[in-house]
Amino acid sequence: MSESYVVTIEPIGRQVLCRDDQSILDACLRAGVWLPHSCTHGTCATCKCEVVDGDVDHGEASSFALMDFERDEGKLLTCCATPRSDVTIEADIDVDEDLEMYPVQDYVATLVEKTEIARDTVRLVIELDRDIAFNAGQYLTFEVPPASQADGVAVRRTWSIASPPSEPRRLEFHVRLVPGGRGTAGWVFGGLSVGEQFPVSGPYGRFVLHTGQDNHTIMVAGGTGLAPIKAMLRHGLENEAYGGEMTLYQGGRSRDWLYDVDFFRSLAEEFDQFTYRPCLSAESAEEVAASGDDPTAYGYGMVTDVIANDHASLSGCKGYLCGPPLMVEAALKTLMSRRLFPRDIYREEFFNEGDKSGGVNSPLIKR
Ligand SMILES: Cc1cc2nc3c(=O)[nH]c(=O)nc-3n(C[C@H](O)[C@H](O)[C@H](O)COP(=O)(O)OP(=O)(O)OC[C@H]3O[C@@H](n4cnc5c(N)ncnc54)[C@H](O)[C@@H]3O)c2cc1C
Ligand code: FES
Repeated sequence: MSESYVVTIEPIGRQVLCRDDQSILDACLRAGVWLPHSCTHGTCATCKCEVVDGDVDHGEASSFALMDFERDEGKLLTCCATPRSDVTIEADIDVDEDLEMYPVQDYVATLVEKTEIARDTVRLVIELDRDIAFNAGQYLTFEVPPASQADGVAVRRTWSIASPPSEPRRLEFHVRLVPGGRGTAGWVFGGLSVGEQFPVSGPYGRFVLHTGQDNHTIMVAGGTGLAPIKAMLRHGLENEAYGGEMTLYQGGRSRDWLYDVDFFRSLAEEFDQFTYRPCLSAESAEEVAASGDDPTAYGYGMVTDVIANDHASLSGCKGYLCGPPLMVEAALKTLMSRRLFPRDIYREEFFNEGDKSGGVNSPLIKR
């Protein structure tokens, strides 16, 4: 039988009940108390807080995200820590007043579409048992069934919602195959088929479109990092509160790694405020022309090189970066070298379980 303890969150003074098998973050998000977080699996360190009083179990916090000396100093990762007594924590809660954050809830999802959209990449569309409220850019966790009967343990995996909040029941996701990955190779690219039902929870995450701004927004997506950016773009273009210019840089090795290209091209034709720049790092203009495609429709080189060539200065812009951790780190450096301040750059790194043994934590920015 699990026991529950009172967790007090300072400086706001809110109190929530948390089971001893539940993370402090989970208890807070379900009770409508928003705490900073990103990966929710002990890798990124975004949720690091101070324990003022009480005892916790640090769970699966990676020793890179929460070092031994930090544990000794009384730090914890709220996404991994479970209470062992009543606990008081001090959190750095930085809430955007224009954004309503919605409590996490559990849903039953039915898979209604599974389509291959690029190399090693599928689009999943799920229908929930009821509507969900979320902000554009947030994610759900999916319960991945046990790998085998003998194993018996389900795991949670994290995929970003690619559709806008105006579609609250039918949600789109883009999932990239990770060789050896339990959720992708072992489930999505394994047996998962249309009609199957499974539990999901959410919404999670702080990578959200900040509306009410009219800055030029530079969005940079690598691989399936496009998913939350697509949700933000659709939301921004649908929403009159978002008046700014938006430019999407989508990076891929070659055209067969890119997807939704026609969709973004038609958005760019429809909306003057939107510019689309698909970029190819391992395919040349000559190869594109030889295949009969228009070579001027693409940028060439790493997505960061294309951005650097396009803009001498990005001063006054906002940046949204998403994808593999190394790409996000490179894009962060490029935007900063073009005079964009760290406080104006929002980002989501797609950390996986393998990153726990040494996540890419940028020394450039305080978490
Ligand atoms: C906020 C967020 C949003 C995300 N959104 C998306 C999205 O929209 N689309 C998308 O495709 N991905 C997304 N991801 C990544 C996604 O959550 C998964 O990490 C990814 O799909 C791989 O999952 P998996 O279960 O297949 O791999 P995992 O089982 O996590 O394995 C990943 C790799 O690590 C290795 N590994 C596993 N366990 C260990 C261990 N203990 N030690 C060392 N190595 C290990 C595996 O062999 C494999 O190579 C997101 C990640 C985050 C944090
Ligand atoms: S949210 Fe806790 S370590 Fe990433």
